[in-house]
Amino acid sequence: MNLILLGPPGVGKGTQAKLLIDRFGIPQISTGDILRAAVKELTPMGIKAKGFMDSGALVPDEVVIGIVEERLAQPDCQKGFILDGFPRTVPQADALSLVLSGIGKKIDHVVSLSVDKGELLKRLTGRRACSKCGAGYHVDFAPSKVAGICDACGGELFQREDDKEETILNRLAVYEAQTSPLISYYQTAGLLRSVNGLGSVEGIQTEIVAVLQGAR
Ligand code: AP5
Ligand code: ZN
Repeated sequence: MNLILLGPPGVGKGTQAKLLIDRFGIPQISTGDILRAAVKELTPMGIKAKGFMDSGALVPDEVVIGIVEERLAQPDCQKGFILDGFPRTVPQADALSLVLSGIGKKIDHVVSLSVDKGELLKRLTGRRACSKCGAGYHVDFAPSKVAGICDACGGELFQREDDKEETILNRLAVYEAQTSPLISYYQTAGLLRSVNGLGSVEGIQTEIVAVLQGAR
């Protein structure tokens, strides 16, 4: 199954993707995670991407399209994949269909998650991640047992550079202007499956699975 998770920053794409990996045995391709790893390793791509990411702007299309094209060619994507955070512009979506048709594949479903802006702000300002193992937390909704320390590995929790309130507001504006047109893009293509992103993580997962299995 070839999936896209679509939705604004903080809606829960990463959280839901992690659960879908186990359920369907297919990998998550998060352009945000790949770019953050490149920033950390100071690769030429990471150095170029950092300024865009820190301000909440999008990294240029050609950079992310290159990342995804390379990733999709890897053997673990043969059975399927979950695109998380890509595509984010109409040119990225057009490029994706070209790349996929070149390798005899297509997107099966685009799961569009939505919640209101107040909830997005709460989710993003409270998000924390483990600096050692990458596990995700939220100070109110999914707190670690000991504040600031990862339950899984004892690593220190940190806040993402772009999860400061003014950067979040910019990311949300960028989403509205550049990414939200993809909702009608994929609706027209007959691929859009809308899911309410408000509720428990497990409840939303059940709803996504039902939608993917055609039960709703
Ligand atoms: P990226 O890393 O993709 O960030 P994003 O799209 O802004 O999405 P997030 O990771 O912030 O949110 P999410 O929806 O995954 O939410 P999560 O599950 O973590 O991109 C970062 C940057 O990289 C971009 O700004 C851009 O510069 C660049 N970039 C990446 N891709 C690009 C592309 N294609 N083109 C150009 N540039 C690109 O959940 C958020 C919080 O809420 C967590 O704390 C979680 O615990 C909590 N939570 C989740 N679900 C629930 C729930 N049901 N109830 C309560 N809390 C919940
Ligand atoms: Zn950890």
